[in-house]
Amino acid sequence: MNWLIHDYREDDLASVVHLIDSTAELGQESVFSLAECIGALTSRQPAVVAISGGVPIGAALATVSGTRAWVMRIAIVPGLRGQGLASALLKELERRLVGAGVRTIAYVLPEEELLGEGLHNAGYDRRPAVAYFEKSPARGTTRGRLEELGGRLLDNDLWAAVAGMEQEKHLIEARVVRPLAEPERAARHGVLPPRAITLFGPPGTGKTTFARAIASRLGWPFVELLPSRLADEGNLAAALRAAFAGIAELERVLVFIDEVEEIAAERGSAERPGMHGVTNELLKLIPGFREGEERLLVCATNSIRSLDPAFLRPGRFDYLLPIGTPDAVAREAIWSRFTVTRTDVDVRRLVEASELFTPADMEHVARTAAQAAFERDRSGGENGSVGATTEDYLAALALAKPTVTQGMLEDFRADITRHARI
Ligand SMILES: Nc1ncnc2c1ncn2[C@@H]1O[C@H](COP(=O)(O)OP(=O)(O)OP(=O)(O)O)[C@@H](O)[C@H]1O
Ligand SMILES: [Mg+2]
Repeated sequence: MNWLIHDYREDDLASVVHLIDSTAELGQESVFSLAECIGALTSRQPAVVAISGGVPIGAALATVSGTRAWVMRIAIVPGLRGQGLASALLKELERRLVGAGVRTIAYVLPEEELLGEGLHNAGYDRRPAVAYFEKSPARGTTRGRLEELGGRLLDNDLWAAVAGMEQEKHLIEARVVRPLAEPERAARHGVLPPRAITLFGPPGTGKTTFARAIASRLGWPFVELLPSRLADEGNLAAALRAAFAGIAELERVLVFIDEVEEIAAERGSAERPGMHGVTNELLKLIPGFREGEERLLVCATNSIRSLDPAFLRPGRFDYLLPIGTPDAVAREAIWSRFTVTRTDVDVRRLVEASELFTPADMEHVARTAAQAAFERDRSGGENGSVGATTEDYLAALALAKPTVTQGMLEDFRADITRHARI
């Protein structure tokens, strides 16, 4: 049996209502009434519909309340039960819910069993009891495993917290986030969701920030593999293998390896003798990792040119995305975040004075400026004024040196030409 599962659309309403209504007596009843289901559908709560031969054959709908979702109903055309459609619908629904920031999914089903007569005698009305199934999709039965790997769910607002960087955000959203969040829709167009990407660019431009933001955006747990910590276990190659074996047991995960040049430098390079075996191990582990669904490996590096070319080839890494210093528009967004409590700060002048500054440099400048305002306040100057002024920022900017030099910028441009895959 072949089916396609798509997001619920308004014109599905009649057929979904019919499905729910006509299956209610067939052991597919729910603790949610038909009216509640219709209410959820019309208020655009998450729902998916399975179609076969142009005809709706099943639907699953949920209602979301904060970080918890309740599955309201899974309705399937009677003759088609027992063919895996229910779990396919549930899986698709779950994907939508995870993407919407849901952490716990509950499914309440009517239970056949009768309540004890004693309760009845005590004046209780008999109500159908419930069997209560619950799952934390990010942790599932693998919660302990996630903790062992040092992984965790991040707050769900990190993507929005990345200021400016619209070009990079747009690219990552289109290439990475959407195909992973909507694999069915992507597959219909022949788009394969990425399984591994590398972010490259000068220090402090936001590579780590982006990796965390992607995990947050997808609602997937974030596991960072730290080569230095893995190396503590003695044999780095074996530790990597063990870590990937643990990762394979997670239902969905974003794995982050920062400073990947530490373990995937060009083999035979004089800089890192003895890392040959580790690089080979990582090369061997990536194909297995790529076979899983709902997983993404994100590597970050300041030095893409020193990476082993075999490591980066297509088939291992889907995209090699440059993350550069913020342009004027992005700097304006970042400065506006820092100066949000003082609308009189002349952000335009800060933007002009901070060419080549990375977000990390800007953060440092903001801290220096705030410190100046704090010290002025303590020494009794400028009564009533709170926070750094335009002059504080400009003074801090004059003292600070951008991390990225003209030479580094030229190297980065050359790296983009040679290595970027977007
Ligand atoms: N778009 C942004 N908006 C606001 N702050 C940002 C942004 N990008 C990065 N930052 C801040 O700048 C600092 C450096 O960012 P991050 O650690 O992500 O850079 P990185 O590229 O990973 O650096 P490195 O190459 O040194 O590892 C962090 O404190 C982060 O919070
Ligand atoms: Mg980093």
